[in-house]
Amino acid sequence: MAKPWDGIFSAKEVDVVIPAAGGTVYIEPFGDVHHDNKSCCKETWGEFLEDAYNRMGPTTLFLGMGDYIDMASSSERKGLAAAGLHDTTMDNLDIIANQNINAFIEDISFMQGKLLGFIQGNHDWVFEGGPYEADKTGSQVMAEDLGTEWLGVSSRITVNVKLRSGKLVDKIKIYANHGKGGGGSTVGAPFNTVQKMSMTFGDGELFLMGHDHSLGGLPSTVLSSRGDDDVGALRCYYGRTGSFLRAYEPNVQSYVTAGGYKPATLGVIRYEYKFTKRVIDGAISYKKKVNQIS
Ligand SMILES: [Fe+2]
Repeated sequence: MAKPWDGIFSAKEVDVVIPAAGGTVYIEPFGDVHHDNKSCCKETWGEFLEDAYNRMGPTTLFLGMGDYIDMASSSERKGLAAAGLHDTTMDNLDIIANQNINAFIEDISFMQGKLLGFIQGNHDWVFEGGPYEADKTGSQVMAEDLGTEWLGVSSRITVNVKLRSGKLVDKIKIYANHGKGGGGSTVGAPFNTVQKMSMTFGDGELFLMGHDHSLGGLPSTVLSSRGDDDVGALRCYYGRTGSFLRAYEPNVQSYVTAGGYKPATLGVIRYEYKFTKRVIDGAISYKKKVNQIS
């Protein structure tokens, strides 16, 4: 039977305010951290946290893409459920998982107030109960503790870019899914899977997936109507949001090594949506330019 947190789609809208003279909105996804795994690269993770902290401003929006902690994969959780463990054993596992979840929350606590939410990954803990809320996932605890939303496995997020006056400048339409495998080991294959999301969600412009630990994004331009009689170019991106899990460390066991998979390019990808004010024949508009950084 499906669990209450399984297969959930969410839709949310947020407002972000830019100056009337123009400004930039920063979308910063992060995921596949596997924070409690011994192969989580704490050096790269620390660099990301420091950069993100130093960079962030009033128009920065972070987005959790899943697999924040490693314990445990969905198949491991099925194995645990089938093992019929004693209550004390399950309580102890809950306690360990809670410590791991709290350590992750502490690391990203500076993002509070700037988080779009937390996508659910396939690596997560599901609390058995006891002192904790039964059937609650680690991602749900993170969202609750940091005052944001748990977004299920798939989410549509509309960022309404506004001026202080309330005037709407643009809508950035994001579709995020923890993800599916890339369907191939070549560099380009993972992005084909992300592009397929646009067959389901036709009006998006930023499509994001994690899961396969690849990093980067490909642009694609579509023609989109922006008004009654105005059709213009819209630059979309199909992004894979990276990972912090190392592989091929000497004498360290890893499923990546065992399977002969390619190692992940560690780190994150981020997007800058720059809005430049234009005045043509007295009419004010804002030109949008997207920049992807990885
Ligand atoms: Fe992962």
